[in-house]
Amino acid sequence: MIKLENVRKSFGEKLVSQGVNLEIPDNKTVCIMGLSGEGKSVLLKQMIGLIRPDDGHIWVDGTDITTLSEDELDENFRRFGYVFQFAALLDSLNVFENVGITLLENGVSHEEALIKVKEKLELVQLNPQEVLHKYPSELSGGMRKRVGLARTLLTQPKYMLYDEPTTGLDPITTRVIHELIKDIQQRYNFTSVIISHDPEVFNFVDYVALLYHGQIHYYGEAKTIWESKNPYIHQFIRGLREGPIKPRA
Ligand SMILES: Nc1ncnc2c1ncn2[C@@H]1O[C@H](COP(=O)(O)OP(=O)(O)O)[C@@H](O)[C@H]1O
Ligand SMILES: [Mg+2]
Repeated sequence: MIKLENVRKSFGEKLVSQGVNLEIPDNKTVCIMGLSGEGKSVLLKQMIGLIRPDDGHIWVDGTDITTLSEDELDENFRRFGYVFQFAALLDSLNVFENVGITLLENGVSHEEALIKVKEKLELVQLNPQEVLHKYPSELSGGMRKRVGLARTLLTQPKYMLYDEPTTGLDPITTRVIHELIKDIQQRYNFTSVIISHDPEVFNFVDYVALLYHGQIHYYGEAKTIWESKNPYIHQFIRGLREGPIKPRA
């Protein structure tokens, strides 16, 4: 379980996290929503220890990671699979090398790496024969996302963090990626956090949290979200129905 307690983080004058309280229960999927620039990515980076909070506590499996040394934080980091906003593939490596990079770096043989990479590519519904030798520039946006996902799955994380996995994709590819995330959830029973603005996500996550002005203003079951009387969530999801949301000033 991940638990954030009164987490605060500023960058210079800019207050970002302003006392965030949030629980991500084991084997559950939580969607975090919020306007652009609210500090959603900063929250994920604090969970994995890439950014240290100024104040507050972050427990991961019972350890308060805000007290850890850099080496101990590395160990925490390895529990997480982090699917970035943009697939973040290395342009100079082909798909096989991109997905298998951690195996190859750790001395796993080419043959063994190939078996594992193929298996994960199939899992994300890519045809290994077709894509193994392609470079990121030869792939569509949706394919790059899937390659990124395959690479993350190979690291066998306990927690999966998806930072806007479908931003910038067309609606059909978005649906395919959502189906994939859902299948992967069911198969591995990960504990996951998905940052997304897409109401389609409410159909397969357990809980939804709304980050607003640096705090969680709503936390509830996804299946009851449309009936919620919470004024913040009401305004936010109405905005989702009616059109694009404006970034925070
Ligand atoms: N490493 C950093 N140094 C300075 N400012 C940062 C840093 N990371 C994020 N910020 C600022 O924190 C705010 C929240 O950023 P972010 O978490 O990326 O927002 P979003 O909710 O869109 O993911 C933004 O104003 C951003 O400019
Ligand atoms: Mg972000």
